[in-house]
Amino acid sequence: MRIIVESNYDEMSKTAARIVADQVKRKPDCVLGLATGSTPLGMYRELIAMYQRNEVDFSRVKTFNLDEYYPLPADHPQSYHYFMYQNLFKHINVPREQIHIPQGIAADVEKACQEYEKAINAVGGIDLQVLGIGENGHIGFNEPAERMHVATHLTDLTEETVRVNSRFFSSLSEVPRQAVTMGMGTILKARRIILLANGPRKAQAIKEAVSGYITSKCPASFLQVHPDVILILDREAASLL
Ligand code: F6R
Repeated sequence: MRIIVESNYDEMSKTAARIVADQVKRKPDCVLGLATGSTPLGMYRELIAMYQRNEVDFSRVKTFNLDEYYPLPADHPQSYHYFMYQNLFKHINVPREQIHIPQGIAADVEKACQEYEKAINAVGGIDLQVLGIGENGHIGFNEPAERMHVATHLTDLTEETVRVNSRFFSSLSEVPRQAVTMGMGTILKARRIILLANGPRKAQAIKEAVSGYITSKCPASFLQVHPDVILILDREAASLL
């Protein structure tokens, strides 16, 4: 596990964007695993700026997002579909048919999860997975629990996650209580992983994630067994290391 500590959020975002852009330049038809949330917004802004300067071409890239609220239609303003189109996809040249996001509404959600997993495998797996981290150590929506799911699945969100994410909704009662998320196995099979974290509220989770111990109480701690993980932190997120 490599740890890069940057002086602030903008530097963290630039470093992350450079790693993603380098991946795309090295392998133009690569498979990117993408995250939503506040953390990667700066990285997405940087990638859009690089695209506008003709520094990177996404036309052959395939993307798979980590998760989606359930049940929530794709056109709901708080859906991760909507988020990704607003904050990245509509500004770059990745073709729509190469974009994959778990379905927020499905007639057979279990089948949809299996198909998502198959679609990732069919393109040869994820080359570079971008992660954020929850204050409780979750990655994707793999919440702290006694047992961790291996593959993409429907999961209950913890009360803490519902509360933290309610900042994007007009009231707590509107926050979906479930999500479809890649499993721990889906994430750990990615060939390379970068995890971004900024701000003091992430410091404890980061400390546990690099503790030298693996525990399902901090799902991010499993990243320690992966051979190619880079944590890109600002000073505050790294303050307990
Ligand atoms: C989002 C995701 C989540 C977030 C995490 C941090 O796709 O999978 O694990 O990365 O909840 O969210 P922010 O960045 O909003 O603090």
